[in-house]
Amino acid sequence: MISKKMSASLNEQINKEIYSGYLYLSMAAYATSIGLNGFANWFKVQMQEEMAHAQKFYDYVNQQGGRIVLKAIDEPPKDFASPRDLFSKTLEHEKMVTKRINDLVKLAKKENDNATETTLQWFVTEQVEEEANPTEMLQKLDIVGKDGNGILTIDNQLATRVFVPPQPQG
Ligand code: FEO
Repeated sequence: MISKKMSASLNEQINKEIYSGYLYLSMAAYATSIGLNGFANWFKVQMQEEMAHAQKFYDYVNQQGGRIVLKAIDEPPKDFASPRDLFSKTLEHEKMVTKRINDLVKLAKKENDNATETTLQWFVTEQVEEEANPTEMLQKLDIVGKDGNGILTIDNQLATRVFVPPQPQG
């Protein structure tokens, strides 16, 4: 069993993960609107990852006898300044998610909730990748600058990303 406080905090995180998916789907739509279908593909895959994160939390809360309570999802922004802006905002968003995961770990430690702390370790590791991906993309985009050919080469690379469902823990 988990505490009511932990259950509520994990429910909140489900909402944030779904919001993350919504944000990335909005970014995909922007990319499509400016003709960058590879960027759009990357963000659609990112949306699938976020839904998988939400589902992981959902399954865990249920397993631990918590009660899932779904709340309204905030409206994501729809306008972005450039392809670079997409990854800049992604990095900013993922840093916020990392902070939330760290706060959840802090709460689990405080409550001596070893099961939740162990489950959260998967997310701690995942967040390293979640910040590394946009950081790498920003480096590449800074190299090509406004060069159209460079952007299209990156677009082709981003078109190859496929969704790989996360492996079960343990
Ligand atoms: Fe669910 Fe992008 O972290």
